[in-house]
Amino acid sequence: MILFLIGYMGSGKSSLGRTVARETGFDFVDTDAQIEKECGATVSEIFAAQGEEHFRALERDVLQKAAAAQTDTIVATGGGAPCFGDNMDVMNAAGKTVYLKMSPRCLVQRLGRGREKRPIIRGMDDRQLLAFIEEKLPEREKFYGRASMVINCDGVSDAYVAGHIREYISQRRKTNAS
Ligand code: S3P
Repeated sequence: MILFLIGYMGSGKSSLGRTVARETGFDFVDTDAQIEKECGATVSEIFAAQGEEHFRALERDVLQKAAAAQTDTIVATGGGAPCFGDNMDVMNAAGKTVYLKMSPRCLVQRLGRGREKRPIIRGMDDRQLLAFIEEKLPEREKFYGRASMVINCDGVSDAYVAGHIREYISQRRKTNAS
């Protein structure tokens, strides 16, 4: 089974993905980290040197490779990944997608210093970031809303969300086995 974690920057895809993979024995792929490894450059450097379009092409390649995995795998995707090309179809065809849903206010809180390594939001103060997310999130939710499952992450602990994801995995296992 391949489980793709999707959601806005700061929603916890990478850290939760790593935690649940450790707990369940699934392999773990982080698309941003994979791109950085393959290019020998950070996401910010790729955006600056080659532009966002080039980054989206790399992201697409990495996502397709992850979608072809033959082992149980959790894939933490970049926040924009579901919203380009037919990436959402690719993920839903290859496995299950889980949307880690979080309100703009909670996202701003979680994106403390983390915004500096994210080229799209770098340098924004809290007020600017809140306005930016409030404008952009509804556009992205058109894609995120096509997830196999949505977890409401506002005001709940990471441990609770991780438990929810594990529960979903075991439910899918039972359904597939029956
Ligand atoms: C992006 C999100 C980032 C990274 C890139 C673009 C986006 O990933 O892929 O900076 O467009 O939302 P995270 O969601 O892991 O921050």
